[in-house]
Amino acid sequence: MIKKWWKDAVVYQIYPRSFQDSNGDGIGDLKGIIQRMGYLGELGIDAIWLSPVYKSPQDDNGYDIADYQDIEPMFGCLDDMEALIAEAKKYNIRIIMDLVLNHSSDEHRWFLEAKKSKDNPYHDYYVWRDGKEGVPPNDMKGVFGGSTWEWVPELKQYYFHQFSVKQPDLNWDNPKVRREIYDMILWWMDKGVGGFRLDVIDQIAKEPDKKITQNGPNLHKYIQEMSRETFQKGDLITVGEAWGATHELAKLYSNPDGSEFSMVFQFEHIGLDQQEGKEKWDLAPLPFLKLKQVLTRWQTEIYNCGWNSLFWNNHDLPRIVSRWGNDKEYRVESAKMLAILLHGMQGTPYIYQGEELGMTNAAYEIEDYRDIETLNMYQERSEQGYTKEEIMNSIHAKGRDNGRTPMQWDDTENAGFTTGTPWIKVNPNYKEINAKSQVNDPDSIFSCYRKLVQLRKEYPVFVDGKFRLLLEDDENIFAYERQNAEQKLVVICNFYGETVEMPLSEEIEDMKLLLGNYKEIKDVTMLRPYEARMYIN
Ligand code: NOJ
Repeated sequence: MIKKWWKDAVVYQIYPRSFQDSNGDGIGDLKGIIQRMGYLGELGIDAIWLSPVYKSPQDDNGYDIADYQDIEPMFGCLDDMEALIAEAKKYNIRIIMDLVLNHSSDEHRWFLEAKKSKDNPYHDYYVWRDGKEGVPPNDMKGVFGGSTWEWVPELKQYYFHQFSVKQPDLNWDNPKVRREIYDMILWWMDKGVGGFRLDVIDQIAKEPDKKITQNGPNLHKYIQEMSRETFQKGDLITVGEAWGATHELAKLYSNPDGSEFSMVFQFEHIGLDQQEGKEKWDLAPLPFLKLKQVLTRWQTEIYNCGWNSLFWNNHDLPRIVSRWGNDKEYRVESAKMLAILLHGMQGTPYIYQGEELGMTNAAYEIEDYRDIETLNMYQERSEQGYTKEEIMNSIHAKGRDNGRTPMQWDDTENAGFTTGTPWIKVNPNYKEINAKSQVNDPDSIFSCYRKLVQLRKEYPVFVDGKFRLLLEDDENIFAYERQNAEQKLVVICNFYGETVEMPLSEEIEDMKLLLGNYKEIKDVTMLRPYEARMYIN
């Protein structure tokens, strides 16, 4: 196995708006992150993936970039960014920037030029089609609802946008666009960033005339060129976001020869709670055996020919303890169980802010939501005749704002996130769930995560052990082993709230308990609600 620093690393994702406000405007900022670096050092993480802080009108909370080489004033300035990189370095933490390269903001200088005239040198930086008002080139629908085509009367043309109207798609077929992007990436590398996360990277090589958005024919050609021109000149961690990734594609993305990225985010395990062929809002019961199957196949299929990223949460997803766990009476046990299950696997784990505290979904009224996707869906489905109850159920379960409520630092007003009015309501459970009460408690969810981060560094089997699923057909227990030449690790997790028999007593007979989520084990042969254990020989 090729050695790379990011193979025993753990990444922590920060959604800057919601992490820590330092100036009382109700929005988290870079100085706030600097203030909290000690906390991240304590957790032991190796890198921070920073959701976008570039200059942006914030139509999609920063995923609409108006200047890739400047910082949005609400987050700070370039000096703050440099200070953050330097402060993180003191803790051996690298900063991973979020690159949104499929589209820019419509307020980016390129787009402002592009829409001036058809012969403007920037026109071809975006994707245009001639047409007639009211008759878009085709019926493609955007991710946030509505048509992907927006009419510009002055030009008598439509531009293409896979996300909001304020996020026009960049034209990757134009070599000038690609060069601009590479130069910008090199500029950030020069500033000392440790890596990049590439937003919806599988959508950059779109071919709208053929209705192709994901996995366009030129996708890997463009990624390989970008990697050659930029990433390969440094020792970076790079991770592509690819909702359309299959095992075969993941082998390309994370080819050990380094020709594309270090790894990809694939979402097969995330999509299991939605009805097939429908939207994410159309909920389906959680299929446990399918979850085992899916996670197992990702472990085995790309073993030695690719690299996994391991995650349950991010800023687009609901809180995992509220989905696969139990965020009521077994919140602590189930949050730890889900952590132990994931962190025992092969790949690079990502912890999303607040996950290490067992933060939960928030069930707000529609007025309290801020996310463009949620609000557009509410509007669209109301018009389509869904009941308010149906829509709110979907939002409470899957809305992106579930993961975007402010970080819960302590039990003071606004959970210590801001002295002002937070841009989105704080989850009212912050008095019970907060960092202050957990950091020094050896039995907290935080301490469990800290331990998992350490174990990955201590035992090579976490990094290179071969995965084998145990108890394949068991309807309650998710168990597996990891084996390398020297050691074996066994992870056993009860996924439900009933006590069940633990059929692996022989398997673990001579093994040592590394970590569990209950204080003591009185009966090895039983697993209590959401009980998880990790053994090593
Ligand atoms: C994926 C990001 O994670 C999400 O937050 C964003 O809305 C879309 N890409 C568009 O950039």
